[in-house]
Amino acid sequence: ALVDPTTLIQQKTDTDHRPPSYNASARPSPHTWTFNKTLSTLIRKNILRFLDPERDISILKGTLKPGDIIHYVFDRHSTTNISENLYRLLPTISPMKNQHHRRCAIVGNSGILLNSSCGPEIDSHDFVIRCNLAPVEEFSRDVGRRTNLVTMNPSVVQRAFQDLVSEEWRQRFLQRLRSLSGSVLWIPAFMAKGGEERVEWALRLILRHTVDVRTAFPSLRLLHAVRGYWLTNNVHIKRPTTGLLMYTMATRFCEEIHLYGFWPFPLDPQGKPVKYHYYDALKYEYTSSSSPHTMPLEFRTLSALHRHGALRLHTGTCD
Ligand code: CTP
Repeated sequence: ALVDPTTLIQQKTDTDHRPPSYNASARPSPHTWTFNKTLSTLIRKNILRFLDPERDISILKGTLKPGDIIHYVFDRHSTTNISENLYRLLPTISPMKNQHHRRCAIVGNSGILLNSSCGPEIDSHDFVIRCNLAPVEEFSRDVGRRTNLVTMNPSVVQRAFQDLVSEEWRQRFLQRLRSLSGSVLWIPAFMAKGGEERVEWALRLILRHTVDVRTAFPSLRLLHAVRGYWLTNNVHIKRPTTGLLMYTMATRFCEEIHLYGFWPFPLDPQGKPVKYHYYDALKYEYTSSSSPHTMPLEFRTLSALHRHGALRLHTGTCD
């Protein structure tokens, strides 16, 4: 069957944006979790009908040349050209080719990680995925340091590195990249119009200074394929978040998937305020209908998968 038990997860509460503290059934239970290999194998198989994460994780060099025109995934009428720099940084083979890992951690950026002491536990995984170049050094007790793949939306160049305007910010950016030594840097460069200059500045720095990262640029079909998989399972997400994209792709490379830092709610289960990001003061309107994401719905989906043992959501402390 095309539809897997993920369908089980769809609850009648699509418009329910209350945090899970008010909804006991949506709250992941930390004590009784056991890995459900059968279900996770089935999910992997069904995802493979929509995308091949090994291939879709990056456009490869052989498939394009500098100057080629690209239509943005979300702004179909706007185009950009493949720059020389971007071309040079395209991988020749998939950066995830033949990679299989027993236990993977995907680290979201919610403030729920603060004071979690989850750093060592996160670092104990065989493969660690992080989002949007989130800082680790100053938060390592709670978030760990190990990074095998990290994403970078074009907006990060502006938000976290001040558009690389000064030497100081360029150095900070380079220092963050150098600390990645050998990891995959995954840049969704062709999703929405507007980030092309930022991506170009970042790529120029990477090429000019020797930085040991393996750049990857997701295929143009990835987003729609991921959305298609979840829609088929009755999960009506608008635009998958980086976190959900990473989970969907990780099913291909990982046996057990553990999620940390996924908590798109302003309060924790005890009713205490939670920052949107563990590392900055960004505010986020979780329930705004203008937001491209449907994070609370994604979270309920992940919680249900947790209850069925397909993945493990960690939302508490690790001591
Ligand atoms: N996340 C979460 N709860 C939060 C913040 C983030 O569950 N309070 C998860 C989301 O899956 C998100 C991921 O962690 O995609 C990384 O966070 P962030 O860098 O903030 O991603 P966004 O920029 O918000 O979302 P995207 O990059 O997907 O547009």
